[in-house]
Order: sequence, then structure tokens, then C-alpha cells
Amino acid sequence: MTHDRRIFVSDPDRLRRGRRPRAARAAGAPGYEEAPGAHGPGPRIGGVLARVTGPLHEERISYAIIDDVAVDPTLESVEFALGVYRQGGCDGVVSLGGGSPMDTGKAVRLLSSHPPPLAQYDWARDGGRLITHPMPPMVAIPTTAGTGSEANRNLVVSLPETGRKTIISSQSMVPSLALCDPELTYGMPPWLTAGTGMDAMVHSMEALWANRFHPLADGMARKGIELCGKFLVRAVKDGQDREARAGMMIAALAGAAAMQKALGPVHSLAHPLTPVCGLHHGVATAVVLPAVMEFNLDAAAPQLAEIGVALGEPPCGSVDEAAKRAVERVRAMRQEMPIPSRLRDAGVKECQFPLLTEKAFQDTCHLANPRPCAPADLDLMFRASW
Ligand SMILES: [Fe+2]
Repeated sequence: MTHDRRIFVSDPDRLRRGRRPRAARAAGAPGYEEAPGAHGPGPRIGGVLARVTGPLHEERISYAIIDDVAVDPTLESVEFALGVYRQGGCDGVVSLGGGSPMDTGKAVRLLSSHPPPLAQYDWARDGGRLITHPMPPMVAIPTTAGTGSEANRNLVVSLPETGRKTIISSQSMVPSLALCDPELTYGMPPWLTAGTGMDAMVHSMEALWANRFHPLADGMARKGIELCGKFLVRAVKDGQDREARAGMMIAALAGAAAMQKALGPVHSLAHPLTPVCGLHHGVATAVVLPAVMEFNLDAAAPQLAEIGVALGEPPCGSVDEAAKRAVERVRAMRQEMPIPSRLRDAGVKECQFPLLTEKAFQDTCHLANPRPCAPADLDLMFRASW
């Protein structure tokens, strides 16, 4: 690959303060694509974009910048980014920010190397088999700890053709390099730390109880849950807590690895809550999580019991009792964070349930749940969370 051009897909709202340029320098350094995988180069924040562009100037690498990436990418926002990419003659992507810039960057990679429409790659229609060509390289520099998009094979985009948040998944979508620096997350406000952190925890939980066989993902999931139990509330209460921020960044990566096994109904319920009701994805997962855990009490009691222990509950009593304690533990954690505990508190209206249920059922994440989810079940889980 040449190093003539790069495109930056950035999210300036989440760029706060900064000190060290190591992540940026690594991103701009020639040959970065020869060191795939995630590593933690170290701290920085604020003026992050300049710290990424600085080394590129030094290396005489030109670039284009998109600094108004849509929160929760749409076809329109992806096509706009693709236009900038093409107009700039770019041959690679650097995504800096949260899940939205990551997913936008992945969509640009896909559409710059594969024909439209984007909807044909829908995972629900087995569209991943159409993703066969090499993609331009991508460096992911997360400034949140939750989505895991910096290290997973998925992108999520709202498409008019499918009428829902659409998952596109391919192993070749995994970024070429992820630069995971906990200090980039210091500027996140408490509500966003809580929302993204709960999303990370849910990725691990849903992977653990999914009815698929993937013992390695199970191990990652256990570790991810344990880290969230130890560090999430701490990171929310003190954004400068270095150990907690680092722990949550690793938890997000563990969740990203675990979700290679599967997700579940928490994500089926959460996905429509963003486009229909405007909820942040992580907040949506946090609100509906206890209802899904209760729905799974019989079908996944051993896994729920494990979750409770990983979160710090004592390993005593029957499995069923331990499973119930896990639900209460999650509720107690949520209580300590600035996120709503009910959908009605997040602005969701009861009259929206039919549409939400229809879209949740179309979302294929729930298919891996150990207890099958009929539309009526999903409706009940929405109502239990309301
Ligand atoms: Fe998620």
C-alpha cells in the first residue's frame, strides 16, 4: 500500500483534553498496517485530531477530514463520507471517536471496495458472503470504551431499504490496527461512560448466555463482565481514575471478542430504540437488560449465576437463587449511574411499542438466545422495562 492519502472520520464532540501524541504518531507512522491487532500505546487527550494530523504532516501524507459524522450512521451520512473519501483520492481510513465514526469508517471501506447497495450486505440476509474483495486499511482510535467496534467485524447502519439498524458483518471488516489508549476516554461525561460501559458489559453477557458453542468467547465474556463489575461504576464516578478507565477499555475489547460468538435480545430490543426513540445505544441496552435477564432466568440460570459471581456476588445458594441475585446486582449497578432505569424516563411512549416490537423481532440478534423470543415476548420485555 502507498501512504499518499488518508481519510479521517472524526468525532470532535468527544475530543476533550490531551497530552501525549503517541497514539497519533503510531497511527500516522508508515508501516502501521504491518502491525495488525490492538495495543495500548498510552495516554493523551484534547486536540487529539491535531495530534493525529501532525505526524501525517511530518510524513507528507495528505488527508481529508470528516468532522461531523452522524451519531448512529445512516445511508446518507455514509454516502457523504464516501464522497469525501473519493474526492480526496484516499486509500485508507482512520476512525477517531466512538462507535459512530468507527462504523462510518467501516462502511466507507466496504463501499470503496464493493458495489452498492449497502443493504445487500445485511447480515440477516447472509450478506457477509458478498464481502470478498480486499479493503483499504483502517486504523481505529477509540475515545469511548464500550462499542468494541475498534476490534470487531461488525458495522451497524440504519438503512431505508431494510427499515432498521442493519448489521453488516465480515471478518475482513476488522480494523487493520486499533490504538486503544484509556486516556482518550478521560473526557467522557459520566452518562456516556455509563452508557458505553453498560454496552460493553451487555456484549459479554449476551455472548455468555448465547446458545452457540464457542468456549474461547465464553472466557473473554467472563473476563469482560468481571472487569465491568470492578471498574464501571468507578469510571463513572471518577473519570480520571486511571485504573478504572484502563479496565473499561479492556472490558470493551473483551466484549468485542466475545460477541464473535453472538449477541442476543438485549440488542434486538435496543437497536430500534435508537432510530425510533432517539436513545443512545448503550443507554438503551442498560434500560432493557434486567427484563431480558429475567426472561432468561430458567433457560440460562447457570450463566446468569456466573454473571452474578463475576460482578461480585457471593457464590452461594442454589443456581436459581444466584441467577436472581445477578439481576438484582445489575439493577443496583445501574442505580449508581446517571442513566434512566425505565424506558418512560428515557422518553419512550407506550404507543411506540408495536413498532418497536416489530423491528426488534426483525433484528436477528435474538435468534441466539437460549429461550426463543416470539414477538409477544419482546413486547413483554419492552413493557417490563417501561
Ligand atoms: Fe452494543
